[in-house]
Amino acid sequence: MQLRLVQLEDAEAVRAIYNREVAEGLNTFDLEVRSLADQREWIARHQGAHPAIVATGPGAGGVEEVLGFAVVSPYRDRAAYATTVEDSVYVHHGHRGRGLGRALLEEILRLAGDHGFHAVMARISGENTGSVRLHQACGFELVGVEREVGRKHGRWLDVVAMQRML
Ligand SMILES: CC(C)(COP(=O)(O)OP(=O)(O)OC[C@H]1O[C@@H](n2cnc3c(N)ncnc32)[C@H](O)[C@@H]1OP(=O)(O)O)[C@@H](O)C(=O)NCCC(=O)NCCS
Repeated sequence: MQLRLVQLEDAEAVRAIYNREVAEGLNTFDLEVRSLADQREWIARHQGAHPAIVATGPGAGGVEEVLGFAVVSPYRDRAAYATTVEDSVYVHHGHRGRGLGRALLEEILRLAGDHGFHAVMARISGENTGSVRLHQACGFELVGVEREVGRKHGRWLDVVAMQRML
């Protein structure tokens, strides 16, 4: 497995991983799938201070492919929040439980530190035990729980807020 900065050519693979969670899962609060144009715009937006990375390795057919991605995004628009970012990590459903999520999160945290950010927030769907465990394993602490602030697939969803200082 290798980690590298995301490139425009990764757009289709990244959006396939993400859109499965949009359509079927409760782990993202997005309700509409990303188009290829949306995904390319996302990649372009994450070429600078707020990086995105991919993990690559042999996929189902043994061919090298994108197995997961991680990104840091601005936490809030207002100027005084500029030193804080929010992370996001997604691993292809066929490659979970093998350390990829942890490797991606550790690397995006390293980059965020290099880029001068001070604090990282994770806002996690309340039912997403795997992501809470992953973030705990990488040094995040619980900040609090926002009760039933989301609604998806007919369910009320909590948001678990976690934080790590860089
Ligand atoms: C959450 C996710 C990124 C974890 O990736 P992964 O590659 O499966 O995780 P790893 O194998 O690196 O595991 C990292 C740690 O989290 C724990 N963990 C991961 N998934 C878990 C699960 N479902 N239940 C319990 N613990 C879990 C592992 O035990 C491991 O802990 P350790 O290092 O102390 O042993 C992955 O399940 C995923 O992509 N889920 C869907 C998208 C998503 O929810 N993204 C997060 C949005 S906030």
